[in-house]
Amino acid sequence: MDKIQIRGGKPLSGSIVIGGSKNAALPVMCASLLSDEPLILGNVPHLADITTMANLLNQHGVQVSLEGQDDKDGHIGRVLSLHAKDITNTTAPYDLVRKMRASVLVLGPLLARAGEAEVSLPGGCAIGTRPVDLHLHGLAQLGAQVSVDSGYIHATAPKGLIGAHIVFPKVSVGATENLLLAAVLADGETVLENVAREPEINDLVACLAAMGAEIDGVGTATLTVRGVERLHGARHDIMPDRIETGTYAMAAAITGGTIELVGARLGDIEAAVERLRQAGITIEKKNGGILVDRANGNLIGVDAETEPYPGFPTDLQAQFISLMSAADGTSVVTETIFENRFMHVPELQRMGADITLHGGSAIVRGVPKLTGAPVMASDLRASASLVLAGLVAEGETVVRRIYHLDRGYERLEEKLAGVGADIERVKDVA
Ligand code: UD1
Repeated sequence: MDKIQIRGGKPLSGSIVIGGSKNAALPVMCASLLSDEPLILGNVPHLADITTMANLLNQHGVQVSLEGQDDKDGHIGRVLSLHAKDITNTTAPYDLVRKMRASVLVLGPLLARAGEAEVSLPGGCAIGTRPVDLHLHGLAQLGAQVSVDSGYIHATAPKGLIGAHIVFPKVSVGATENLLLAAVLADGETVLENVAREPEINDLVACLAAMGAEIDGVGTATLTVRGVERLHGARHDIMPDRIETGTYAMAAAITGGTIELVGARLGDIEAAVERLRQAGITIEKKNGGILVDRANGNLIGVDAETEPYPGFPTDLQAQFISLMSAADGTSVVTETIFENRFMHVPELQRMGADITLHGGSAIVRGVPKLTGAPVMASDLRASASLVLAGLVAEGETVVRRIYHLDRGYERLEEKLAGVGADIERVKDVA
């Protein structure tokens, strides 16, 4: 197993190329199940979760092939071809699904195309109970027979799915995606109300539309889907990763550096940008990307509360707590999406951070100095927060269990070393 070693204290400077979005790519890959023609996807990041999804789709009968790279050095943007000529197997087994919660997104499209699906209940990051009731209830409203037995979801719709009016009682990214992936082939019109409005949903809608789906209301809380009989092949480029963007923006901020984030989209992370500006960081559009600069200013404590998009993303909460740990003053960071998403806090405390947990809020009193320590990653974004703290801490920080990082950050240590961080990945012999 690998670990990451960081010797902190270097202001970062230079440019980082932002990769394709993991959370957009995963549902879009599942769209390939809906057509017997190839779906070609550009700007696909090279990440463990993408490989897991490719393996899962492959065992459903999807031929997955790497068509090339978007850049000549083979570093950025893989081009994947996904061809589901025939669905040969409608079971998503525990061994694959447990690695990644987003595996449950095969449920909707398998049901829509093959009329049946058996999907293990998902695992994924240990950041809360994360049920799938909204997915299952929505699919049942489209006419599927759904039951849960022995750790598996069983769903059938032998006569096909039927359009329905579905009001989500709670905003869910995954449930919105699963229902979209099912409704596009349903008979008649489906209205989805109180849907997630995350930019990744818009990316999925764009891909489905390119395949011939008819969807209105993109970017709003209500999506209307007119079911079509079949979808065709298409080419779609995955949007840039807004969480990677926010993470590296905070890396520049915490080290007092200046970084250009090449290919990043400011409009996708406005709530986070607003907080970063209040904290004293300059962020502006530059050359089609973003320039983040805190070369000459202090870092000021500001509050943040996670919310569904367009609010502050829960996937940047851990990184923001690290940033606030090194700020002047106190900030209150409130988590409203997941109930158990503060596992980075005890690790940050071991690095000298002054954080008190109070219900769903972290009260972060900025300290003049964080100190390097051996720490343990507990989930994907928590891992990134420990790396950020390590970049500014005095002495050496060693982050273990970085397989979490590899699920969602492509070549993180290379990208950070490229802007001057003293960071390396080494084999953990312990
Ligand atoms: C997605 C993202 C994840 C992000 C999260 C919230 C992917 C692959 N993952 O996860 O990185 O942190 O959105 O922005 O895109 N819920 C229910 N019942 C359900 C489904 C969800 O109660 O059936 C709850 C969850 O427990 C959570 C909240 O709804 O409290 C939001 O979860 P959801 O938006 O579904 O997150 P994911 O799609 O799993």
